[in-house]
Amino acid sequence: MRTVTAIGELRTAVRQARSGGWTIGLVPTMGALHGGHLSLVRASVAKCGFTVATIFVNPTQFGPNEDFAKYPQTLESDQRLLEDTGCDLLFAPVKEDLYPGGFGTWVEPDAAVADILCGAYRPGHFRGVLTIVAKLFNLAQPDVAYFGQKDFQQAWLIRRMARDLDFPLEVQVLPTVREADGVAMSSRNRYLSETERRAAAVIPRALGAARALAEAGETDPSALGGAALGVLETEPAFRLQYLEIRDAETLAPARGSTAGKLLVAVAGHVGGTRLIDNDVIAVPAPHKPARQEEVAHVP
Ligand code: PAJ
Repeated sequence: MRTVTAIGELRTAVRQARSGGWTIGLVPTMGALHGGHLSLVRASVAKCGFTVATIFVNPTQFGPNEDFAKYPQTLESDQRLLEDTGCDLLFAPVKEDLYPGGFGTWVEPDAAVADILCGAYRPGHFRGVLTIVAKLFNLAQPDVAYFGQKDFQQAWLIRRMARDLDFPLEVQVLPTVREADGVAMSSRNRYLSETERRAAAVIPRALGAARALAEAGETDPSALGGAALGVLETEPAFRLQYLEIRDAETLAPARGSTAGKLLVAVAGHVGGTRLIDNDVIAVPAPHKPARQEEVAHVP
């Protein structure tokens, strides 16, 4: 696997791969790679002839009081992991090349879907994400770009951007990869102490409680939310930011019992670390009781 830092080198490598007849797969990351990232790389390697991973801690998606300055940087082990997973090219640019002086053009997502959920607590975050992802799409010109369901709203907004701005590529969103106790893999899990890491397992347990209730036939979103909240409240070390149930297709709040896919999304802090997770639960159409005369003959 080659590592390049210059935009020109990336463009040349991609052009060569394309003229060799390969399809291009792109996996954008901020590094500190784990099994979740690698599942995306693996999917790209399986489908595309040439896989490009990127590592760039994108300053424009971090708020002033967030962890940009201390975001984990583990380039050498990331390179080994990517190499072992079959990645062809790593693009690891410096900030000055992606945001040169005078940079001033942004991809601004629709506030109705960007200023909710995580966007409500991270102003400008998705504008930063979409701008860097649009730039990476333009630089690598992939046929397929891979993202994780772990960041559901991010993946949803990237799909919308690709459609709205006519990027000629397919956006693939792959399932969340979890640790043995259910905690979603995340670069930020490195911040957790041992006790905090144990406390974080309350999040997948809460999502599991909502799913179990849905599987038992409950279709009311507020009941599903109540089940998840009940579990979250058992862990004093977890400070809830939001727990929301939304329509997974539209991100509109889920009200009443509706058939379809429900997004159960959680964000909160354990110690100083912000963690997010979600589950998508398919809810069947509410059971319509048959008309009286079909149920039983009443003499
Ligand atoms: P990062 O947090 O490094 O994540 C890179 C990709 O890996 C994202 O698509 C994310 O959803 C996916 N991912 C993270 N944890 C995962 C898990 N446990 N299972 C499956 N996939 C997982 O997301 C970003 O970086 C940035 O916002 C980026 C898109 C690179 C733009 O800067």
